[in-house]
Amino acid sequence: MSAADALERRQRRHVLYTWTAQNAARPVPIAGGEGAWFVDHDGGRWLDFESQVFNCNIGHGHPRLIAALQAQAAELACAHPAAVFEAKAALGEKLAEITPGDIDTFFLCLSGSEANENALKIARMVTGRSKVIARRRSYHGASMGSLSLTGDRRRMSAEPGLWGVARIEDPYCYQCPFGLRPDSCARQCATQLAHVLEMEDPSTVAAVFVEGVTGANGGFVPPPDYWPTLRRICDDYGVLLVADEVFSGFGRTGRWFAVDHWGVVPDMICMAKGVTSGYAALGVLGMRPHVAAHFADETLWAGLTTYAHPLACAVASEAIDVYRDEGLIEHAAALEPVLLAGLEAIKARHPIVGDVRGIGLLGTLELVSDRDARTPLVGYGAKADPDSPLGRLPAALRARRLHCLVRGHMVFVTPPLSITAADLEHGLSLIDDALTEVTA
Ligand SMILES: Cc1ncc(COP(=O)(O)O)c(C=O)c1O
Repeated sequence: MSAADALERRQRRHVLYTWTAQNAARPVPIAGGEGAWFVDHDGGRWLDFESQVFNCNIGHGHPRLIAALQAQAAELACAHPAAVFEAKAALGEKLAEITPGDIDTFFLCLSGSEANENALKIARMVTGRSKVIARRRSYHGASMGSLSLTGDRRRMSAEPGLWGVARIEDPYCYQCPFGLRPDSCARQCATQLAHVLEMEDPSTVAAVFVEGVTGANGGFVPPPDYWPTLRRICDDYGVLLVADEVFSGFGRTGRWFAVDHWGVVPDMICMAKGVTSGYAALGVLGMRPHVAAHFADETLWAGLTTYAHPLACAVASEAIDVYRDEGLIEHAAALEPVLLAGLEAIKARHPIVGDVRGIGLLGTLELVSDRDARTPLVGYGAKADPDSPLGRLPAALRARRLHCLVRGHMVFVTPPLSITAADLEHGLSLIDDALTEVTA
């Protein structure tokens, strides 16, 4: 038995895998890494096309992030939620510099789920209203409130969830829920928000939750007027707009935040993942002054023991400097054409690829059984037959030591932003090879 297999067996005996039946779990063997590559316990090198789980945006083994953790651990590793210390103050200042518009006040928690959970609570406290609107194919986290906001099937594991979540459709142009085409539609996916608000009674709705760019539910890149339309409708109806940038933030789309592409300032913004590049557990909820002002004299009924954990603050503060100093966000934007050209080349060679799309270093391949009809290779929420091309694809990618997410009928390309153009092209060629193998 290999060292990796022996370790996995020990671990599996006592520690659960998430979002899977234990017998179907796919372990990720990782002992260390550098940049876009990680190594397994047998010394094998893997190209990380998923940035672990869309969080290791800076890349593996970054010496500055490791040093920041070590220095903070030596100085102060444990502190009260109300503690005052340098890394916490510095992180607040830097977040205020990089977040959109006048967002300048932050609530610090442990995960993207908690950022959304607290956004929901704060939206209710600030507006005195209880209902919310979210999208159908969204994911906002695993806790009860965040899972209730979530539109995708994971939500059903927690149902009946939170009362009062209404849905709008997604800007999924390739499979438009309204049966339209982006060059001729009237952006019904965005304008539908006004209709749903009217139906729900806007005076009962606290907020609208929308991912900056949808992550692993489809990498839907919205048309340029989509986000500005949502902003206008929320302003017209006096409803808070919350951008969930847990996935799309910290450079994933080639800007600090996806909403920056369209010049939109949400009332609140949820962050996690790339904020520490996955080097510590941190979620952040940012808010504009008009939201934060509510808590000047009203109690903020929210908190946690490990609020603003010193290690998380220190590594997030250093991560922001690394993104800036190494020009990682500009680099991600510069690699977008390489990604798109590579995806198009794969599409040209494989009839099974119906659509490719991308923004920054978030790429999506959509696999179909019929290109003209745009029929997904597997129905929504269904599992692929293990002997089908789609069923065999994850193993074909793993055999090439490419860590890359296949979810439903889609394949996602989300490497660390520090990846080189050559490694990006190499990884895309591995997907190309794997598709050739499984469709042969
Ligand atoms: C858009 C979005 N929101 C929220 C979350 C939840 O974040 P976490 O897993 O850190 O709780 C995720 C995680 O994938 C996400 O992609």
